[in-house]
Amino acid sequence: MLIILSKKGSEGLKRLVFGIIKCLVIASVVVAGLAVYSFKIEPKRLVTKEYELEFSSGGTDSIRVVQFSDVHLGPNYSLEQLERLVDRVNDLEPDIIAFTGDLLDVASEFERRSETSGILGKLSSRYGNYAVWGNHDHGGGGVRFYEDLMMKSGFTLLKNENSIIELESGQVLNIIGLDEAMLGKPDVQKAYSGVDDRGAKLLLLHQPDLVDEIGYDNFDLALAGHSHGGQVVVPTFGPVVTPPLAKKYRKGMYQLGTHTHLYVNSGIGTTRIPIRFWSPPEISVFDITL
Ligand SMILES: [Fe+2]
Repeated sequence: MLIILSKKGSEGLKRLVFGIIKCLVIASVVVAGLAVYSFKIEPKRLVTKEYELEFSSGGTDSIRVVQFSDVHLGPNYSLEQLERLVDRVNDLEPDIIAFTGDLLDVASEFERRSETSGILGKLSSRYGNYAVWGNHDHGGGGVRFYEDLMMKSGFTLLKNENSIIELESGQVLNIIGLDEAMLGKPDVQKAYSGVDDRGAKLLLLHQPDLVDEIGYDNFDLALAGHSHGGQVVVPTFGPVVTPPLAKKYRKGMYQLGTHTHLYVNSGIGTTRIPIRFWSPPEISVFDITL
């Protein structure tokens, strides 16, 4: 079939083809830019988020709690990055440091495991460093190394147990640590055994959705991780996907009562795909009046 285009028709076709090519080039540049940002830039853009909270005790003393979570040491988060993280946390002059699980991505595959406690052990706080278990601390061979590693790093590892701190003012703070639920065995009753009800309650746990089983009356502030803030967030929509037990509470601060809050930290490292978008790695800081 012979098609004869007029000069006008031929010009129109040229403009259409040129327009399509231009759109494809722009789309490719945008996609390439987003990919470079999401894989190379945002995963290293550590941010500090600061919050002021009042506990129900009605006191005037204040403490600073600094939380970090989900480091996932491994091929995508190095010990050199951990060194810089430790410096950033120490610069915040914490009264209490809280780590909410997932230190190593796949513990049995991380060859520099023995060097970790020397770096983590440089973390310093007035009243102590506390940690709980994450599912990656149980899985990937982590169960063989995590407890020993945290002990050597100077952390008090709370597995369904608590520590009671007396602050310099004489006020009491209970720090309660719950085991994670995917490969561990959380036991709320055991975790709260011996808690001093006159004092405030800081709950540490890995998976945020567990707070609904604990009851909002049983803590003033719960600190969790696990979700990584979704790693990839669509602005105005939220995280694209979060893991089991981080479906209801996915990212950031949740007010559960007048003086009761849950904070879901977006984590430091990444797992599976080393990507972050609109959910940078974070240290969270809580200046609490209690
Ligand atoms: Fe994690």
